[in-house]
Amino acid sequence: MRILVLDGVSEKGIDILREPGFTVDVIEEKLSEQQLVEMIPAYDAVVVRSATKITAPIIAAGVNLKVIGRAGVGVDNIDVQAATQHGIIVVNAPDGNTIAAAEHTLALMLALARHVPQANEALKKGKWLRKEFTGVELRDKILGVIGLGRIGTAVAKRAQGFAMKVIGYDPYITHERAREIGVELVSLEDVYREADFITVHLPKTKETVNLINREALAKMKPGVRIINVARGGIINEQDLYEALKTGKVAGAALDVFEVEPTTESPLFELPNVVVTPHLGASTEEAQVNVALDVAREIVTILQGGMAQNA
Ligand code: NAD
Ligand code: MLT
Repeated sequence: MRILVLDGVSEKGIDILREPGFTVDVIEEKLSEQQLVEMIPAYDAVVVRSATKITAPIIAAGVNLKVIGRAGVGVDNIDVQAATQHGIIVVNAPDGNTIAAAEHTLALMLALARHVPQANEALKKGKWLRKEFTGVELRDKILGVIGLGRIGTAVAKRAQGFAMKVIGYDPYITHERAREIGVELVSLEDVYREADFITVHLPKTKETVNLINREALAKMKPGVRIINVARGGIINEQDLYEALKTGKVAGAALDVFEVEPTTESPLFELPNVVVTPHLGASTEEAQVNVALDVAREIVTILQGGMAQNA
């Protein structure tokens, strides 16, 4: 069995793949779709993070491919439909980076509330500014969590530690579940109307792309602050830009973008925008966790067992 490992998956996971009878090729540089189409026939399994897109042409060329492993949560960089049509199993690692992404969300929320990146930049440029960087407290503010799955729940619990009132929208969870995690389950309209901070923790699907658009932004509280550590495109960047320019949105913190990687965006020119380059899962712990989880799944599948996270 030959396994191709891409996107800098943690070495601890790769070690698990080095079973007797398995050959593991680790490629660090970014491969083009054409390069992958040419290489993939030699492989029984491929493991990626989010940088490499496993497209339909790569899947069609993968005549020996049995499993595609995603060392992380979102499988939107894999053409799952094409994989299913070819009888290839797609597995992910849904739990390993939950805490990393939740903590990054809190880091961005605090950075937004207290202008940490802007003050840091100004001071290092020789400007001692205090009045300009007066912030707001999280205490007693209403946090609206859209998507109360693993990360949304972890964010809600941590926000309660800051004495925030947490409301949430997720049509797929029960009121009982919401009560268990101390969240008042409300409609999307209510989240827009009531929340001082809004954070999205949704998968990227046809339903969720463009969810936060001009119309949604218009329904929000003036001065709302918005955080996206889920997926670019769930918030329409152009509409967000306009709402930030008018002051309707007081600030936005974004870890993910419609097109990635990106180093240029009109949003980057706004002083009330805090950005990170898709770092939500980038902790030492999370990268080991997801690599171990996905590697175990791949070994199980290649040895004829049942996948847990297919
Ligand atoms: P999850 O599957 O545990 O939770 C997603 C939740 O969204 C579910 O509870 C689901 O019911 C809900 N949902 C689905 N469609 C909805 C809709 N239309 N409206 C409201 N709720 C809806 O996933 P998770 O592990 O919490 O991950 C959330 C997102 O974060 C994913 O997009 C994932 O890829 C992304 N993520 C990003 C990073 C990063 O590095 N920035 C790290 C980890 C995960
Ligand atoms: C995920 O969906 O798990 C995240 O995008 C994290 C990542 O793999 O970079």
